[in-house]
Amino acid sequence: PAPGWTVDADVVVVGSGVAGLTAALRCAAAGARTVVVTKARLDDGSTRWAQGGIAAALGEGDTPEQHLEDTLTAGAGLCDEDAVRALVTEGPDAVRRLIEAGARFDVSDTTGGIELTREGGHHRRRIVHAGGDATGAEVSRALVAAVRAEPSLRTVENALVLDLLKDAYGHTAGVTLHVMGEGQHDGVGAVHAPAVVLATGGMGQVFAATTNPSVSTGDGVALALRAGAEVSDLEFVQFHPTALYLGPDAEGQQPLISEAVRGEGAHLVDADGVRFMVGQHPLAELAPRDIVAKGIVRRAAEQGTDHAYLDGRHFGAEMWERRFPTILAACRAHGIDPVTEPVPIAPAAHHASGGVRTDRYGRTTVPGLYACGEVACTGVHGANRLASNSLLEGLVFAERIAERAVTETAGPGPYASARTRVPLLPPEARVAVQRVMSRGAGVLRSADSLAEADERLSALPGEMADKPAEPGVETWETANLHLVARVLVTAARYRAETRGCHWREDHPDRDDAQWRRHLRVSLAPERT
Ligand code: SIN
Repeated sequence: PAPGWTVDADVVVVGSGVAGLTAALRCAAAGARTVVVTKARLDDGSTRWAQGGIAAALGEGDTPEQHLEDTLTAGAGLCDEDAVRALVTEGPDAVRRLIEAGARFDVSDTTGGIELTREGGHHRRRIVHAGGDATGAEVSRALVAAVRAEPSLRTVENALVLDLLKDAYGHTAGVTLHVMGEGQHDGVGAVHAPAVVLATGGMGQVFAATTNPSVSTGDGVALALRAGAEVSDLEFVQFHPTALYLGPDAEGQQPLISEAVRGEGAHLVDADGVRFMVGQHPLAELAPRDIVAKGIVRRAAEQGTDHAYLDGRHFGAEMWERRFPTILAACRAHGIDPVTEPVPIAPAAHHASGGVRTDRYGRTTVPGLYACGEVACTGVHGANRLASNSLLEGLVFAERIAERAVTETAGPGPYASARTRVPLLPPEARVAVQRVMSRGAGVLRSADSLAEADERLSALPGEMADKPAEPGVETWETANLHLVARVLVTAARYRAETRGCHWREDHPDRDDAQWRRHLRVSLAPERT
């Protein structure tokens, strides 16, 4: 549709989590006219739900080199070592700058220094946290406050970005968007800018049960695909081992039980109260999370059930209240008291290790289009992200992007949106996509389960053809989920091995000879 209104800028940042707001603040500080567009409110994305924290080699005796080793091990042979090196060496200063920008992290009662915790895959305590288990909320609070205090930054909330605009030479020229209920900006509009930073977060809502909020619908990956950009590693979806188990049919966002609970000494036990991770990996409950998620699924299946338990009764009430107040409240709200009983848990979709492919400066394969945070595939996560590396990735790569995005220039208009035609889908299709994906492309996959998922996803638009799909946020989101799900399933069908968080029942071993490589996908854009 023709844009009804336009805004001109130097940089438009899409999304308002740690990556988007950090990039926007940096671009504005460099003097660029910067607009932040976000689908809901500024603090509604995944960042504010992050519990565990931010990993950085800040502890005595810790080094970026050790953080690099742990990250490469978790990534199962597919990390880009130079990108990881940038992450771990620039990480400590990026965290210090976040503190200077106003974020307040927990400090140790004994040393007065920043208190560090441990999570899966880390051989050391190196996770900075805030409010006990509310790190993301503090990061989000600090960054939103900094954005609101920066008069040159313009924000447009409740705006779903639809497509990328390109100039006559195929260079990025802005985005079209659909704005809801914001007075003068209602309806379809456009922000013209020669640099677009996608920071739209993840795609957890592709699955039925996820730790992600309802806004995580893969919009950035879908936009990038429609614009002809390359995406990579979409098959590597990380399932967090310990979401609160709310029953076999639980759907939507599930309460997260941070890895830090295990980091502080809670045990995973089966239905008989037996610790089943001991002996499976030298780090037991603190093995990388793909190994723990697999351990839970296997043990539960052996016992004819679909969940296990996290036992932290030995912490006592005081420690639960001080260290994990958010988790304690969430469990109690569901009638479970971690102080007196083991907490039922099961894996849930948590983080996309893949996404829009970028170089080490956040540049995608489309000139002027950048990607940062969970939407991006920078190469730092490989086949399986190391716990608490994602907020860090958002911080470090946002700073790297800002240095470059402010220098982009577009060619002459009139601008055209370049995209493949993707049919809008009625909101009813959303649940269908989620159920198909959880059944066929969840923690455990096989050629048969993936083929069935592929078939069901292909048939869906035809099956829904008689239902109304008027242009709007729900129909766009559903179309985005469907597109991302199809590409994810295609990649998962190709990768005939088990690696990192991609677990194939029919190919149980890692196959370095064939598969130590990335699966990259792009769609051919049509000019419209
Ligand atoms: C958690 O607190 O367990 C989540 C940390 C992460 O996903 O990095």
